[in-house]
Amino acid sequence: MAENKENNVSNDDQNRETLTTRQGHPVFDNQNIRTIGDRGPATLENYHFIEKISHFDREEVPERVVHARGTGAFGYFETYGKVGDEPVEKYTRAKVFSGAGKKTPLMVRFSTVAGAKDSPETARDPRGFAVKMYTEDGNWDLVGNNLKIFFIRDAMKFPDMIHAFKADPVSNVPNPQRMFDFVSKTPEATHMITFLFSPWGIPATYRHMQGSGVNTYKWVNAEGEAVLVKYHWEPKQGIRNLTQEEAEAIQAKNVGHATQDLFEAIERGEYPEWELFVQIMEDDYHPELDFDPLDDTKLWPEDKFPWLPVGRMVLDRNPKDFHAEIEQAAFGTGVLVDGMDFSDDKMLQGRTFSYSDTQRYRVGANYLQLPVNAPKTEVHTNQQRGQMDQRSPEEFGDNPHINYEPSMLGGLKEADTTGRAPHRPTYNAAAMTAPIDRPNNYGQAGHTYRSLEDWERDELIKNLSDALAVCDKKIQEAMIEHFTKADEEYGRRVQEGIAKKMKELEAMHQEDLVPGREAGHTKFGQGT
Ligand code: HEM
Repeated sequence: MAENKENNVSNDDQNRETLTTRQGHPVFDNQNIRTIGDRGPATLENYHFIEKISHFDREEVPERVVHARGTGAFGYFETYGKVGDEPVEKYTRAKVFSGAGKKTPLMVRFSTVAGAKDSPETARDPRGFAVKMYTEDGNWDLVGNNLKIFFIRDAMKFPDMIHAFKADPVSNVPNPQRMFDFVSKTPEATHMITFLFSPWGIPATYRHMQGSGVNTYKWVNAEGEAVLVKYHWEPKQGIRNLTQEEAEAIQAKNVGHATQDLFEAIERGEYPEWELFVQIMEDDYHPELDFDPLDDTKLWPEDKFPWLPVGRMVLDRNPKDFHAEIEQAAFGTGVLVDGMDFSDDKMLQGRTFSYSDTQRYRVGANYLQLPVNAPKTEVHTNQQRGQMDQRSPEEFGDNPHINYEPSMLGGLKEADTTGRAPHRPTYNAAAMTAPIDRPNNYGQAGHTYRSLEDWERDELIKNLSDALAVCDKKIQEAMIEHFTKADEEYGRRVQEGIAKKMKELEAMHQEDLVPGREAGHTKFGQGT
């Protein structure tokens, strides 16, 4: 490259844009602060320097309290216009599903749950699968995970669960005993733990994993009739999971392999694709089932509630800026469009408060004005002001003086409900704090254990045994009891696995004590 030594710029630089301050002033010197003499003290009126440093000091927003590590991409959803063989309008008036072939732009954020923003993507952890669709009726968020069930069924337990899954609050050291301590007192988690400690607990990449809404929603048709619905994403790339050993080998070299994989695949033009399926159920108690359909620790059996295809999703664009478009993205289970509703799933209802609440803190009161979060439809609202308010005058409607509703003088009006009969579930029960009456904590856990392939079951036993071997005896016994209740063989094999691993650890410990060897050098990481 030819250099113009005098100005210290290459000739190619002449085509580049000039650096400016955020006030639009050209920056003449971006290398040296202003000082008294070339070695003297710095001056305080150095506007460019102070702006540069003070903005840097504020570069990060708080990371997500869960799902902090993640990445994302943009693309579209294409509806099949039907659900299975039936017209989709029979079940929902949501326009995103009507009109075969219609495309709706969307963005997706994939994540892990417990780790911090730059933690390894090889963690044994559920993966977040959050989709934001910019529909013609406003935004629809489907905030799901890769696994189809969850650890708990009541939102009240979520903060405790997350505390237990994260590092010790005193030492900040991760310790599997914390998680198993919580889980040993949470029998409904047995099913999820069975998936999580099998190879399904470490998806190979974000492109090769399923997604699921996990919680139960409702679809509402034009007459206001509702059915219960569960959503599932199936990757067209196929499903790939990692063994613990494979994950550790990747982690030794790369803590961001899944982010890299997604980004590079899209750059190469290999656009990942998922098909969306729904399961549908009448909204009632279903006495014929041995579980409560609103219990998110349960799978809806496919033979009774088949997976019906409704559309497909393609991711074909990488973010232009990670912070603006991914880190500031804000998803929530409350973000539903007309034709969708909440079920009485207790987790869903608790979640729905939590998301927008944390986003007002994490991103700011006007987080919905950011391009990634704003709908592509017009917004007309009387919600106003707050820090960093960037509303455009069009949002105020034809009469900006009337920032309230109702009014006889003008301003915004309520939407027309023609063809949008309200869905009005009725209740006749006392208010109470009570568990559900069909917990059936072990039935599906045992079934899932027996459904795994042999090598997956071997991995499950090994992973559980290795993790539980370093736990307190009381916790080991409680966990063995849960697994035994799920399946007698399951419990027995975990018990044997723990005993074997503890012997190995004991032998390692003895070796460490042999004179002449450096005591304790194998202790680090022995718990995994
Ligand atoms: C993220 C709360 C259960 C999937 C979050 C965040 C909170 C939260 C506060 C951070 C959001 C943000 O900073 O933008 C809760 C509560 C739950 C719950 C209170 C239970 C009561 C679940 C379940 C799933 C799930 C069952 C799976 C279906 C996700 C995903 C994200 C997330 C995918 C990341 C979204 C993103 O990529 O920005 N959750 N959560 N959560 N949660 Fe939950």
